[in-house]
Amino acid sequence: MPALYSSLTSQLFEEFRARHGYTGKILHEPCSASIRQRLIHTIAQFHILDQLGTPMIPYVAAWRDDGLDIWYEFAGQTLRALLGSGNTDLANAFRESLISRCMYRKCGSPPAIIKVVRDREQLQQLRAALRSVAQQGQAVEAVYRLEVHGESLWFKDFARVEAFEEDGVFLSFGTLADITKEVMLEEELKQAKQELLSHRDQLVAKVERKTRKLRQAQLEVVTRLAQAAACRDQRTGAHLNRMSRYSKLLANSAGIGDQAAAVLFHAAPLHDVGKLGITDLILHKPGRLTVEEFEVMKGHCQLGAELLDGQGSDLLRVARAVALTHHERWDGSGYPGGLTGNGIPLAGRIAAICDVFDALTEERPYKPAWTFAQAAEEIKRQRGRHFDPDLVDLFLGNLPALYRIYRGRIN
Ligand SMILES: [Fe+2]
Ligand SMILES: [Fe+2]
Repeated sequence: MPALYSSLTSQLFEEFRARHGYTGKILHEPCSASIRQRLIHTIAQFHILDQLGTPMIPYVAAWRDDGLDIWYEFAGQTLRALLGSGNTDLANAFRESLISRCMYRKCGSPPAIIKVVRDREQLQQLRAALRSVAQQGQAVEAVYRLEVHGESLWFKDFARVEAFEEDGVFLSFGTLADITKEVMLEEELKQAKQELLSHRDQLVAKVERKTRKLRQAQLEVVTRLAQAAACRDQRTGAHLNRMSRYSKLLANSAGIGDQAAAVLFHAAPLHDVGKLGITDLILHKPGRLTVEEFEVMKGHCQLGAELLDGQGSDLLRVARAVALTHHERWDGSGYPGGLTGNGIPLAGRIAAICDVFDALTEERPYKPAWTFAQAAEEIKRQRGRHFDPDLVDLFLGNLPALYRIYRGRIN
């Protein structure tokens, strides 16, 4: 067929026009054989493609290198029906329908974005970029958003731009594909993702709030438990208070982070919670305990550990370790496990020093209160025997801060 129309007589041209509905300009005018053959061949093929009713909408757009007007050399029935326009003002109709966001890119490898067009003014500026693409003989991909019959539609355009220098004309051979459904789905997906993220943030915040409340409630329970044990043991709340502060200070100077030191601060007062399970006859006995009675008394470590046992929080886990091991000694002579050295949990080693130190500075029925200096001297004397030598060094290196706690000048 192209050979048939290669040199058009007026009769053949009329036949071509009638068969393919040609309403372009170039074939009406004198033109080069190359552009004529290219147009006739392509229009014949595009016409068939258009009539097949495929999702591809074929077109041939044209413009002169010295002008701004674009016209269509071929626009099938699908495109005309879409834009509701005749062939002559189709380009205008297309421009008028254009809403926004057209992205042009070369279909090379790798693809490169030439221009993102946000308005009609920018579309005019795009001409130069398209010409450069034409000169390189590359294909171009674009995405348009069109307003068609009050409806917003998205199209993807694949086109090859060719320059016909002899005629001073550019031709764009392209196909449009309606991608509205894909774009809408993408938008819905994006929105769903955003909703999911915001929902997740709300849930995280809710869980954090509940966790904080739970921790607060747990803290209240263990504090009251510690107070109950201290009260039964005829010890003062002040002992627990100071011992907690000494423990936190020593933990910090041993390099334990603030968060873990704060856990020890709340756990330390529970060291003697097991005394809740020791009979009054032994707990409140005025004189010295017999060997058998002392054995019962020693049981408060195990009782405390059992009381604090379970899949609890860090607080309960550390409190359990302190309750179980605060009477262990560095040299292995302590109870209940006879553990030695670093085999004793750090929390237990810290609590042991702080508990003994504070007990020495308190008055008891069987002894007067030791002075701060006397108690510190005793801690030093027990270095490497009762207590972890490194912790004793740190303890003695912090005497001014410890003294402020002892004097109650720090809360
Ligand atoms: Fe104890
Ligand atoms: Fe104590």
